[in-house]
Amino acid sequence: MESTQRVALVTGGAKGIGRGIVLHLAAAGWKVVFCDTDQAAGEQLVTKHAVPHLRHTRGAIVNMASTRALQSEPDTEAYAATKGGIVALTHALAVSLGPNIRVNCISPGWIDTRAWQGGSDEVEALSQADHHQHPAGRVGTPEDIAALVAYLISPQASFITGQNVVADGGMVRKMIYEE
Ligand SMILES: NC(=O)c1ccc[n+]([C@@H]2O[C@H](COP(=O)([O-])OP(=O)(O)OC[C@H]3O[C@@H](n4cnc5c(N)ncnc54)[C@H](O)[C@@H]3O)[C@@H](O)[C@H]2O)c1
Repeated sequence: MESTQRVALVTGGAKGIGRGIVLHLAAAGWKVVFCDTDQAAGEQLVTKHAVPHLRHTRGAIVNMASTRALQSEPDTEAYAATKGGIVALTHALAVSLGPNIRVNCISPGWIDTRAWQGGSDEVEALSQADHHQHPAGRVGTPEDIAALVAYLISPQASFITGQNVVADGGMVRKMIYEE
């Protein structure tokens, strides 16, 4: 009998946003497989080798980009270019792999992952200014991104592919000029 349990593969699942995604999907009843740190193992797993399985199960891919694909501060060329590449890779893959596989990406803004970085139990609180500069009134959490991943891989998102979904508390929509 074919299993109907949904399976998610999360790369970089030991810490930060990836860990949030693992915990969220596991709590929602997904069977979650994740890899981390071991780059060789990661390369064996990350999109290429998952495609045959995803095609068979009509699965979905969610890549992690960044608002750095859309806006910059000085000396961030490599990161910005990489994240811009992920946005472009996402729509290219969506066109190549559709209709059986949907491919989207998320561009997180400032996501506070410090609680899950390991090491010290003491995490310095963010300031009111840190939170209040966001139109949404707060810095993001891994759970914010995990919930969005859960939506994008769900049947409810079956008409959404090739998109870059920004989850940044509204920061890229805020006009900032020094007075
Ligand atoms: N935290 C933020 O504010 C933020 C904002 C925008 C985008 N992002 C993006 O979200 C993603 C996760 O960020 P984070 O803040 O959770 O980072 P993090 O450093 O807290 O966690 C990343 C995890 O990925 C693992 N990892 C690194 N290379 C790997 C590989 N080749 N194979 C498998 N695992 C690997 C690390 O060991 C670590 O556990 C990154 O792509 C980052 O660019 C984060």
